Amino acid sequence: MSERQLFIRACWREEVERTPVWLMRQAGRYMRAYQRIRERHSFLEMCKNPRIAAEVTLQPVERLGVDAAILFSDILVLVEAMGMRLEFHEGLGPRLSEPVRTPEGVHRLRVPDAERDLHYVMEAIKLARKKLRGRVPLIGFSGAPFTLASYVIEGRSSRSFRFTKEMMFSQPEAFCALMEKLTTAVIDYVNAQVDAGVQALQIFDSWAGCLAPQDYEQYVLPHMRRLFSEIEARGEVPVIHFANQAGTFLDKVRLAGGDVIGVDWRIPLDEAWRRVGYEVGIQGNLDPLALFAPLHEIERRVRDVLDRAASRPGHIFNLGHGVHKDTPEEKVVALVKMVKRLSAR
Ligand code: CP3
Repeated sequence: MSERQLFIRACWREEVERTPVWLMRQAGRYMRAYQRIRERHSFLEMCKNPRIAAEVTLQPVERLGVDAAILFSDILVLVEAMGMRLEFHEGLGPRLSEPVRTPEGVHRLRVPDAERDLHYVMEAIKLARKKLRGRVPLIGFSGAPFTLASYVIEGRSSRSFRFTKEMMFSQPEAFCALMEKLTTAVIDYVNAQVDAGVQALQIFDSWAGCLAPQDYEQYVLPHMRRLFSEIEARGEVPVIHFANQAGTFLDKVRLAGGDVIGVDWRIPLDEAWRRVGYEVGIQGNLDPLALFAPLHEIERRVRDVLDRAASRPGHIFNLGHGVHKDTPEEKVVALVKMVKRLSAR
C-alpha cells in the first residue's frame, strides 16, 4: 500500500498496516531549515510567497517522514482578506487593527472571493502538490468560524475572551451575523483549496474550549453544522474537525460534523473516541510538551496513546496541539519513527 494512501485510508477508517502520523505546526520554528528561511523573511512574507510556502510545506515531509503535508499558511490570512489589517510582531503573536465589536463593524467585513483574494494560497497549494509528487497527501485548512471570530473581536490572542463573550452575550444578533459571514467565507475558502488540489481538510477550532457547552450549542453549533454540510467536497476529501479543549462537549462537536475528530491531550484518547462514536475517525493526542521528556518517557506515552486506539481503524496519530517552538528537533524526528515502529500491525 502506498504511503500516499495510508493517511487518507485511515481518515476513511479503512484497515491500515500502521498508524499514520503528522503533527500540527510540523513546519515551524523548532526546525533549523525553517529558521534559516525565517531569518531572511517575515512570517507573513513566507505565507504570501507561494515558492517559499511550498518549500516550507515540504520541510517536515523530508526531515520527519510524516504521512501527510499540511499547507504552510495561517488561519488569519482569511480575516485579512475580509478587510482587516494583520501584523505579526516578534514574541507578541498576531495583531488585527480595529477589532470588530459593533453591528457596523460586522457589516464592513466582506466575504472574499478566495480564488482571487487568496490567490497566493491557491498557488502555494499547486506548487506544493507538484513538489510532493504524490509521496504524501496535502492537507488544506481553515480556522473554524468561532476561532476566527475570537481574533476578529479581540484583535489578538486572548486568555479570557472578554470581548468575544461580551459581544456573544449582549449583542447576540451582531455576533450571529459575524458568525454567518465567517462561515460563508470559510466554506468558499476551503472549497477553493480543494479545487486547487488539497486532498484533505482540517478545520481548527482552537478556542472552542473557552465556551460553556450550552453556549457552544447555542452560538456556535448551528454555524458549524452549516459549514460541514456545505463543504462541497465532503465525500470527496476527508475533513478533520480539531476541537481544542472541548472534552466536556465532544457529543456536540461530533454533531457539528467531520469525518475525523481531532482532540487535545486533556482527555484520554479511548474516552474521546467512545464519546464521539466509532463511526468517525479520531486524531491525536500526545501532549506536545511530552517532547521535552527523555526518549523512554516519550515512548511510554506514545505506547499509551496507541494502546488506547487499540488498532481500531480510523486513528491518526498527532499531538494534542501544535509543536512547541523550543522543542528539540531530534525529539520530533524520533517521535515520528517511534509511532511508525510501535504501530506496525
Ligand atoms: O501546522 C502547520 O505546520 C501549518 C501551518 C500553520 C501555522 N499556523 C503556522 C504558523 C497552521 C495550520 C496555523 C494555524 C493557526 N494560526 C492557528 C490554529 C492552530 C492552533 O495553533 O491552535 C492559530 C490560532 C493561528 C494564529 C497564530 N499564528 C498565532 C496565535 C501565532 C503565534 C504563535 C506563536 O507561538 O508565536 C501564529 C504564528 C505562526 N503560525 C507561526 C507559524 C509557523 C510562527 C511564525 C513565526 O515564525 O514567527
